[in-house]
Amino acid sequence: TEIPSKTAEAVQKVRRAEAFNRGPAYVMKDFILRKAKEHEGQIITWRRHFHAHPELSFKEEKTSALIASLLESMGYENIRIGTAGRPTGVIAELNTSSEGPTVALRADMDALPVQEETGLPFASENPGVMHACGHDAHMAILLGAAQILSEMKESLPGKVRLLFQPSEESGEITQGALPMIEDGALEDVDAIFGLHVWQPLESGRLGWREGPLMASSDRWTLTIRGKGGHGAAPHLSIDPTAAAGHFISMVQTFVSRELDPLKTAVVSVGEMKAGNAFNIIPDSVYLQGTARTFEPAVRSAVEESLRRIASHSCEALRCTAEFAYHRNLPPTVNDPAMARLGACAAEEIFGAGNVGETPPTMVGEDFSYFLEKIPGAFFFLGIGNREKGYAYPHHHPKFQVDDGVLALSSAFEALTTYTFLFQKKE
Ligand code: NI
Repeated sequence: TEIPSKTAEAVQKVRRAEAFNRGPAYVMKDFILRKAKEHEGQIITWRRHFHAHPELSFKEEKTSALIASLLESMGYENIRIGTAGRPTGVIAELNTSSEGPTVALRADMDALPVQEETGLPFASENPGVMHACGHDAHMAILLGAAQILSEMKESLPGKVRLLFQPSEESGEITQGALPMIEDGALEDVDAIFGLHVWQPLESGRLGWREGPLMASSDRWTLTIRGKGGHGAAPHLSIDPTAAAGHFISMVQTFVSRELDPLKTAVVSVGEMKAGNAFNIIPDSVYLQGTARTFEPAVRSAVEESLRRIASHSCEALRCTAEFAYHRNLPPTVNDPAMARLGACAAEEIFGAGNVGETPPTMVGEDFSYFLEKIPGAFFFLGIGNREKGYAYPHHHPKFQVDDGVLALSSAFEALTTYTFLFQKKE
């Protein structure tokens, strides 16, 4: 993904406009970079340990225990293992006695049901389970940031809360962010930051964006009921496959005919099941699929449209429709000021030419729940490295993370944290 140089100029302008570099905010930059370098070996070791010992969604028990003990040794307080009645997830705090604002940093912890094929010396030791999305890197980066922040504790003008979140990958209402929030993870928190390693972006680059970054991710299901019969006598049956065909072709008219052409949505059919013989008209057809959008109004409109098309296409062909729409994840919408703050900090850490605006993606991410509640921003960290052969996409059995960018990313999280606390306090 190319980063236009115009964007770097834009960030410079924004920084001047917001007087970002005034005062002592940047006194800490050199300290943070020095510490990141000092801890780089440790950060990479953590990441490789997590990679070798992946755990699935809501099963991150050993991962949680290790993180909690590391944070305790760094001087973190109020450490809680487990959240919302689950045994996994870690919440910890720094500077609990200090006055001032609180900033939260979040990393997700879970791996995927994928059999690893990288052949790495630190490949997964847990058959059929792999950190194929890079959450191992997220944890190591946040631990690195935690270490750096703990060493500048005395000069932190506020509090830090770390959220190691279980179950980002489960893709349904069982995801980890929402129960964590309901359990008080964001109480008294003023802003939250997080990142995802991003394979399409070249290693060492950071992508940022104001407003919508990632889409809502919803699931819909439709059961069409007719009346089964002999394939030779359709007039004696009510054929649900005919209704399914009309539904599938009409459903795309939401995007092409109902939605403002300058707005975005996608509807896909992922599953269709009907019948089991060549000469029998089935009783029913089952369909399910996804719908993705960036705006609440578009999200409601697509739900309404799918429901209407399902009901009327079935009615027109004498079938009945049972339609359900499940709102799984809201869109991930960055607060513009928080996104710019992170972009400015990133420029200091990665270099101005390596920081740029990233296009939004229709993939979903449950960091969105945090951003629904409080201001904050989510960033994409480039880890793709063709020279090293790291060219496989997320969730692929050969997916790899470039370890060389982890320590700088810890520095980025630490500087973003410091900058927010400093500006807020002022
Ligand atoms: Ni992920």
